[in-house]
Amino acid sequence: MNLGRGPVEGDAFGQALLARQEGKVGDIVSERDDGLVELDPFDYFSPPHGPVWDWVVARAGHRILDIGAGAGRAALALQAMGRQVLALDVSPGAVEVCRRGGVASTFLGTVLDLAATGPVPFDSFIAINSLSIVFSPTQAVGFHDALRAIGHPDSPLVGTILDPYRTDAPVHLAYQEANRAAGRMAGEVRWRVRFQRLADPWHSILWACPEELAEIAGWAGWRLVETTPTADARYGALLRPEPT
Ligand SMILES: C[S@@+](CC[C@H](N)C(=O)[O-])C[C@H]1O[C@@H](n2cnc3c(N)ncnc32)[C@H](O)[C@@H]1O
Repeated sequence: MNLGRGPVEGDAFGQALLARQEGKVGDIVSERDDGLVELDPFDYFSPPHGPVWDWVVARAGHRILDIGAGAGRAALALQAMGRQVLALDVSPGAVEVCRRGGVASTFLGTVLDLAATGPVPFDSFIAINSLSIVFSPTQAVGFHDALRAIGHPDSPLVGTILDPYRTDAPVHLAYQEANRAAGRMAGEVRWRVRFQRLADPWHSILWACPEELAEIAGWAGWRLVETTPTADARYGALLRPEPT
């Protein structure tokens, strides 16, 4: 055990989810690399509902890969509808929470790890609040080839993502400006989760408006075919693979 100063690197996000599932205090604190610290207001356990969720469900197929499943709320809802869902996450704690919560099929690892096991192809991929991971500049290498390898030629990718420009908070606008000045996309966010003494490794995600998403997705071999707004700054996006 590290009894020194400073946080201990580990599965902060997963341990926070486990604590919440056990009814303990599981506040998820996010830390951005400009020093901004915030309490994550997202409810990882409530079943998804509402027009955007219905929109996702109508576009997801029967055999679904849930990328970045978190506590498994989307996987559980789809499973209850009779769909076949594999909940994938890199956080051991999150995958454990999925299992304990009743998700029948889970995978601990990345999409690349899954592709290496040669799974039965998926009809669709969902990334609820996780498209920012799928299109993260640091995760792109091999990610989209792996998705192609485990899908059918027309398997869509459906998910939600935050439009970073729908804010007027000076702290976020300044972060975007600093990104641009450093040659990065405005919506690239380097952050980590903190829980008690634990800290996830620092990693980058990408928030993008529909025009940016269309462009980045195009580089990765996807076509943005449809978007739908949500009540907040997020939006739903449906992407289809470009023919190879
Ligand atoms: C914002 S949470 C979304 C959770 C869930 N989809 C929901 O809507 O409640 C993002 C999830 O992606 C996972 N994640 C981060 N990087 C990942 C990667 N490279 N592959 C798979 N999952 C990843 C995190 O552990 C976390 O559970």
